[in-house]
Amino acid sequence: MSQDTSDKKFVTLTDHATGKSYDLPVLSGTVGPDVIDIRRLYADTGYFTYDPGFTSTGSCDSAITYIDGDEGVLLHRGYSIEDLAENSSFMEVCYLLLNGELPNADQKKEFEHTVTYHSMLHEQMMNFYRGFRRDAHPMAIMVGVVGALSSFYHDSTDVNDPHQRMVASYRMIAKMPTIAAMAYKYSIGQPFVYPKNELSYAANFLNMTFSVPAEEYKISPAVERAMDRIFILHADHEQNASTSTVRIAGSSGANPFACIAAGISSLWGPAHGGANEAVLNMLNQIGHKDNIPEFIARAKDKNDPFRLMGFGHRVYKNTDPRAGVLKQSCHEVLEELGVDDPLLELAMELEKIALEDEYFVQRKLFPNVDFYSGIILKAIGFPTSMFTVLFALARTVGWVAQWNEMITDPNQKIGRPRQLFKGHDRRAFVECKDR
Ligand code: SDX
Repeated sequence: MSQDTSDKKFVTLTDHATGKSYDLPVLSGTVGPDVIDIRRLYADTGYFTYDPGFTSTGSCDSAITYIDGDEGVLLHRGYSIEDLAENSSFMEVCYLLLNGELPNADQKKEFEHTVTYHSMLHEQMMNFYRGFRRDAHPMAIMVGVVGALSSFYHDSTDVNDPHQRMVASYRMIAKMPTIAAMAYKYSIGQPFVYPKNELSYAANFLNMTFSVPAEEYKISPAVERAMDRIFILHADHEQNASTSTVRIAGSSGANPFACIAAGISSLWGPAHGGANEAVLNMLNQIGHKDNIPEFIARAKDKNDPFRLMGFGHRVYKNTDPRAGVLKQSCHEVLEELGVDDPLLELAMELEKIALEDEYFVQRKLFPNVDFYSGIILKAIGFPTSMFTVLFALARTVGWVAQWNEMITDPNQKIGRPRQLFKGHDRRAFVECKDR
């Protein structure tokens, strides 16, 4: 029951076992649901809350990204993802996420220069790659190499020093494309390609990925624009699983490189960022639109672990606004590249059939950000194993922005959830001979 008898809002919790009532403060943000402040709940009532998967739990204050799942709204520092994807650039969005405002011309020039001039890796880091098998999944390489950055850049690991936090933040945003491109090159046995300072962030990444010493890689402006837009669409997304992983790792005071490596690990899962790779594998498994009904039936069968990858979302119960932008980019890129990928037609047919099926409609399972991204990435020339690497590359700025916000939040302390214990109560030890 919510009351507002003074300027403070609160709800009253009544314990019918004891008849005691407790007033719990209600806190309001700028926009979105109010929250019930339960920080004193255990101390005052002896109860924990119970919320596996944190479906109803706010873990922090944040001013970076706002999502309205029912309305399909995604705002970064107040700007809609549609506006940013249409009118901005990934470098501008990085500045916005980190600093709270879009950069003016001078700020943008300085930010891009700083990122560009930190895109090279310590030469000795190349040795890490040679320790991996050639067929290692690029995400395994990303986790290892990003975590190892802390073994090289000791001058930016003190999380209490604002300057070192800023240096580490720039280093990760700047070096992630180089690390990702090197992971790809290593997996196909081609030589590493160094960054070129005259190229844009997206063009630099494409060049490091696809150029070879034998010939220049011709960068299509449409592909460069699509790459930049894909980075924008994946930059940040509130307190998703990987961002929450980065925050809880950072809450112990772990160095920023280790926290981002933890985020990469969480993103890798097929229920999260790994879904873009899983979507392509699923479309190839379906093979032809005549087979769609069989797979829709499997997705609905509780005894079958198969799920329609790229569909559903913990928060969006309307469309994922990013999917709409990506669907449009899909058509543009495939047309520009003259690619007639039957998988796009299959994906659109699958979307159409799924969205007419009561099971998906009733559960509000719409295509999410991962549904169309893989088709564009495949058209550009990336293997499916690199799809989640690109997601991690783009999400690094979101992780870094959220990590900085967590470190400087006076309300934050080490993340340490409790549990509902269902194991044995205390019991006497039994010798092996008596078991
Ligand atoms: C990302 O959190 C973020 O913001 C993540 C992300 C980001 O930018 O960081 O947006 C990126 O991770 C996008 C999601 C990518 N994952 C996938 O596409 C994998 C397929 N989707 C599902 O695994 C699932 O939809 C989740 C994990 C995304 C969401 O799962 P929830 O919120 O825990 O929902 P649920 O599992 O409780 O499902 C509710 C119902 C269940 O049926 P009932 O028990 O009610 O009968 O919907 C069903 C589920 O079985 N369901 C699906 C389904 N997704 C949910 N059934 C078939 N196919 C699916 N894809």
